[in-house]
Amino acid sequence: MARLATSRRPATTNTSGHPALTALYKLGGQGDPKTVESIYEQWAASYDSDILADTHGYVGPQTAVRTLVRAGLARSSHILDAGCGTGLVGVHLARAGYTAVDGIDLSPAMLKEAMKTGAYEALSIVDLTRAIPVPDAAYDGLTCVGTLTHGHVGPRVLSEFVRVVKPNGLIVATVLDDIWEDDGFETEAQQLVKEHKVEILSTDVEPYRPGAGVNAVTLVMRCC
Ligand SMILES: C[S@@+](CC[C@H](N)C(=O)[O-])C[C@H]1O[C@@H](n2cnc3c(N)ncnc32)[C@H](O)[C@@H]1O
Repeated sequence: MARLATSRRPATTNTSGHPALTALYKLGGQGDPKTVESIYEQWAASYDSDILADTHGYVGPQTAVRTLVRAGLARSSHILDAGCGTGLVGVHLARAGYTAVDGIDLSPAMLKEAMKTGAYEALSIVDLTRAIPVPDAAYDGLTCVGTLTHGHVGPRVLSEFVRVVKPNGLIVATVLDDIWEDDGFETEAQQLVKEHKVEILSTDVEPYRPGAGVNAVTLVMRCC
């Protein structure tokens, strides 16, 4: 029997009234990349100071990097930071001793900020709603932080992440907890397990923007 489409509930996740975040969240699901890019082009210069301010208290990057370290990824690993934005994850990776890190993102303005951090070997413009232009099994590890959220990138990207990571490699991705089940991320991750492509190591719900009371699932997968 054909399944009836369910109507999407409007995003109610607290944005602390931030105009760019509110506009992005309103897009819902997987946003139109052109619209998303135009919002980030305007936001890039003030993104770090806005998101790290107490009203959000964004901790996604340090949570993801701490998780990667605990999961035992070797410091010599070649890592892809997908949706790297201004490079907050790269900075935490560098502090933790990871130096071979590439970053990809949709927004040239965000990538320009990431370049200033000096934390990345290579930075490129990539739309994660399409195939990632990287060969199979190119990386030992992959991070994706803050990009699996309302109006950004949908769950199908998880299979692309798995494709570009080597067997035994690790993937750490944050998924806003409000959309983990409702937008199909949990189902997509379980499907990858059924296909024997990954083992899910953990799906802890952790503080993400604690200043706004927002949590995210930290998805940790080992590729098979
Ligand atoms: C909230 S920011 C997170 C950036 C960074 N990872 C961090 O934790 O600060 C989300 C990032 O996702 C990127 N993004 C949104 N849609 C994308 C897409 N379709 N392809 C690639 N990147 C995308 C945006 O340009 C933005 O830099």
